Amino acid sequence: MSSRIKILPSHLINQIAAGEVVERPSSIVKELVENSIDARATQIDVELLEAGKKKIVIRDNGCGMTKEEVELCIERYATSKINILEDLFKVKTLGFRGEALPSIASVSYFTLISKTKDTVEATKLFLEGGKKQASKIVGAPIGTEIQVEDLFFNTPARLKFLKSNATELSHCIEIVEQLALAHPMISFKLVHQEKDVFFLPRATLLERILAVLKEKPEVFVPIENNASQFHLSGYVGLPRFMGGTSRQCYTFVNRRPVRDRTLLHAISAAYQSFVPQGHYPKVVLFLETEGEDVDVNVHPAKREVRFKETHFVHSFVEKSIRQVLGQLRSAGDKLNSHVWLGGAEGEAPSPRPQFTRTDDGESPSATGPKDEAEGTDSYFSLYPPDHRIQVLREGATEAFTQTGYYRNLHYIGQIKSSYLLCEDKDELIFIDQHAAHERVAFEKLRKQYRDSVLQQQYLLVPISLEVTQEEAVLLTELSQELSQLGFEIEPFGGTTFLIKAVPSLLHDHISIEVIRSVIHELKEVSKTLVGDEIINHHLATLACHSARTAKEKLSREEVSALLSELDQIKVAPHCPHGRPFDFRVPIVDIEKYFRR
Ligand SMILES: Nc1ncnc2c1ncn2[C@@H]1O[C@H](COP(=O)(O)OP(=O)(O)OP(=O)(O)O)[C@@H](O)[C@H]1O
Ligand SMILES: [Mg+2]
Repeated sequence: MSSRIKILPSHLINQIAAGEVVERPSSIVKELVENSIDARATQIDVELLEAGKKKIVIRDNGCGMTKEEVELCIERYATSKINILEDLFKVKTLGFRGEALPSIASVSYFTLISKTKDTVEATKLFLEGGKKQASKIVGAPIGTEIQVEDLFFNTPARLKFLKSNATELSHCIEIVEQLALAHPMISFKLVHQEKDVFFLPRATLLERILAVLKEKPEVFVPIENNASQFHLSGYVGLPRFMGGTSRQCYTFVNRRPVRDRTLLHAISAAYQSFVPQGHYPKVVLFLETEGEDVDVNVHPAKREVRFKETHFVHSFVEKSIRQVLGQLRSAGDKLNSHVWLGGAEGEAPSPRPQFTRTDDGESPSATGPKDEAEGTDSYFSLYPPDHRIQVLREGATEAFTQTGYYRNLHYIGQIKSSYLLCEDKDELIFIDQHAAHERVAFEKLRKQYRDSVLQQQYLLVPISLEVTQEEAVLLTELSQELSQLGFEIEPFGGTTFLIKAVPSLLHDHISIEVIRSVIHELKEVSKTLVGDEIINHHLATLACHSARTAKEKLSREEVSALLSELDQIKVAPHCPHGRPFDFRVPIVDIEKYFRR
């Protein structure tokens, strides 16, 4: 009887490995562009057909490969980048496992042409589903060109997991942009369906950041700091130019784009007192280390790293950013007039969770709110828990106060232009005016939506919106949702769009920044929620942007209008994002304190 256990054939091993390395076209773009960077190319061209599903071509002018190297590079575990285990901890190249090319080749029709400066001829290799079909000598310039066609042709189940071309293209753009940010001295070109998506010439870091993020120089200030083995550099955005998504927080470890909880949490902690809820700083940060303080081999797509001294890294990054923001503040820069909450220079005034190292020395976990400590890998989850929408369900409508409760409160005054202090016979009541306005706006929007009369207002002068390539794709993808919410946005050639109408509630608050935030928030939401939750979340996003800011002087008339509107709300006293808007202190507690 033959044994049930057998060694799998190598092409099957490669296909299984490809499951980890090659998830979608953008994974291939990432691996191949990284190889070109490791080959010290100064020019990298990426061409895609059908967002890379049909064809991906990566061309570089790097060091190229000899005939022998070409034959070897498609073998599993063949790498020129490390020799011994210790190298893994010192590795400066983006690749090191020697598995990208065989994995990619095993799920596509794969052609590689490469030539070094020392040979006259180039070598061309063709593989079909990982099986070598032909190899020949051809003429070609110095460097390497790889073509990947009909991705997943031999694993149709995986083909089904691919998303629309617009989504897959936006992933590819994102990957190339990230790598381009880390390598401004390399010029990058991205072409889709034979049309230029972008061309990024060699540049300084700041020029590259401005080109990729489509921003102006005044948005950023440089940051540079050293501690122990670590060197931190890059640019941090002024809080008043914050964005609506954490995607503009770019972090790199040894020039490798990573999404690391420790780094993102450190950034969010540093900006905590400057940036209002639901907004994120624009940051491009490079952390470099010579030593063996970081393990890069912890994620199949190398998107994550593990620091030996997580706690140290967290505090170094947080302090460095806060120092920069603090210096700006003392230099009289108006960091963010409406969210600065005071406190010592560069210090976050509100109590923040204390960080403790978990037993296994992993990322820091907060001893503060539970959600914050719970790890998921999304950027979204790294920000405080109240950024997640907790729209109270329709059923939870029992009145939480008696009719006319708020209207009948005695209003004492406003604290820090943010909180309304009121009293009734038993309690002192603090009302967070921003959260309360948000809830009122949300309820209005929800009613309009339910009655199918979401009010739209045409702008006297349409706003012209210049967006990034990625945002242009998002705008097209989300056009139905945006018009459902009352936006009328038209393409105006290239990456310019015209905003002709907006939801009425948003009319007085509209700005390019607000529209950008809305687009990105809609995208995040569509990824994580379903059905009614999505529309509730969208309405909450609009409500947040239409509400009064946290710091604004209100007249007595405005306060009493708000209190009356709060009486119309039939759900518990929370803003649509789940933050309470009402905090009560019983008078008996005050009396107890004074021992009366
Ligand atoms: N564009 C290129 N120019 C020159 N050499 C290349 C290029 N792409 C790949 N190679 C060579 O082929 C080898 C195998 O590439 P592959 O991407 O499979 O592995 P790797 O980059 O070493 O590690 P990883 O699997 O982590 O990416 C590389 O080590 C490198 O020597
Ligand atoms: Mg590689």
